[in-house]
Amino acid sequence: MKILVVGSGGREHAIIRKLKENPAASEIYAAPGNGGIASDAVCVPIAATDVAGVVDFAVREGIEYVVVAPDDPLVLGMVDALREKGIPSFGPDRAAAIIEGSKVFSKDLMKKYGIPTAGYETFSDAAAASEYIRSNKKYPVVVKADGLALGKGVLICEDEAAALDAVHSIMEDKKFGESGSHIVIEEFLTGPEVSVLSFTDGKTVVPMVSSMDHKRALDHDEGLNTGGMGTIAPNPYYTEAVAAECMEKIFLPTINAMNAEGRTFKGCLYFGLMLTPDGPKVIEYNCRFGDPETQVVLPLLESDLLTVMQAVTNGTLSETPVRFSADSAACVVIASGGYPLSYEKGKPVSGLENGQIPGCDATVYHAGTALRDGTLVTNGGRVFGVTAVRGDLASALKAAYDAAGRIDFENKHMRTDIGQRALQAL
Ligand code: AMP
Ligand code: GLY
Repeated sequence: MKILVVGSGGREHAIIRKLKENPAASEIYAAPGNGGIASDAVCVPIAATDVAGVVDFAVREGIEYVVVAPDDPLVLGMVDALREKGIPSFGPDRAAAIIEGSKVFSKDLMKKYGIPTAGYETFSDAAAASEYIRSNKKYPVVVKADGLALGKGVLICEDEAAALDAVHSIMEDKKFGESGSHIVIEEFLTGPEVSVLSFTDGKTVVPMVSSMDHKRALDHDEGLNTGGMGTIAPNPYYTEAVAAECMEKIFLPTINAMNAEGRTFKGCLYFGLMLTPDGPKVIEYNCRFGDPETQVVLPLLESDLLTVMQAVTNGTLSETPVRFSADSAACVVIASGGYPLSYEKGKPVSGLENGQIPGCDATVYHAGTALRDGTLVTNGGRVFGVTAVRGDLASALKAAYDAAGRIDFENKHMRTDIGQRALQAL
């Protein structure tokens, strides 16, 4: 079977390596892929956001199944465009991808259908937003750009001056581009965060093993927000009782709400949750696999990923077993010094052969690498995610850190405390 995976990060690498476990996935292509994905798939130089380019390639090459992994092509309608050519794919169509593409949409959806989330107001006018801030005396307050902003469009403001500044920079200076024409101002919630990725065909929802992301750049959750500096799974805060409550109050109501709106969601629906003193609440929805959550969740999947994905596409998920191992997984991200602000690219990497560490029972997922004259070099802010799976979290963390220590390049940066909070909660 000829399969195309759209995207170029560690998440896509994890999806490709899992798909490859099925011998039927005989030919895998990646658009555009990266220097490490090139060891596992044929990389074609088409940008993930180039809807027409991807569709043309899929038609020309006789691709039989496409996995659209990143948010932007989903929001742009890549799944719809492939469907028009009769090519089945994994991911929500444009109408459903709005659950991530517009925070105003997702907040209004939750309000309308009684799904627990932070209290909020939406604004399309900077003066009205500023007036609301002046009358609201509760801090911190959270200001969010409506649209996709590479995970950076969320500002947690400690006082009135910071909140007014956030409104100004998002709505007037357009710091995050057009995604800031509308904003959400919401109440600040507290509690442990949990990421739950789920498979859904619009009728059945099957949560995957839970995970915990580490979003800040530096140890002890200091520094700027990033795409994620490491993950562990399962998340010890996500007990069976919490899972049951989330299924009843959040997961099923969300699937039903999307159906009621005529926006049936098929694909991976990601629930970003906060376990507040008042119960679990939705911080955000993503219309796709999380990155780097995927790098700990898929290694624990025992069922065949291609079979599960096709069941999602065909609407037969209820008949398809989805099993996870009881082991623990840890992923440590190795970034370029300076990320998420400016950083240098093109640094030669040592410690790898064919993209992996020889003789090491850990997987190196490539996030931002390129091959330059046959040499592997850095090509992004997040460069690798190194994942180890073991019987318990402490062993998985030790193995992931041991492996990550064997990879080197100039100005390498990683957090040293991934998983520590989870270990304390066990
Ligand atoms: P998001 O991109 O929406 O996931 O937000 C990024 C991060 O900001 C989240 O992972 C949370 O840590 C934090 N955050 C977002 N919304 C809130 C909120 N209402 N209260 C507290 N923290 C929040
Ligand atoms: N790791 C968070 C995300 O993928 O949005």
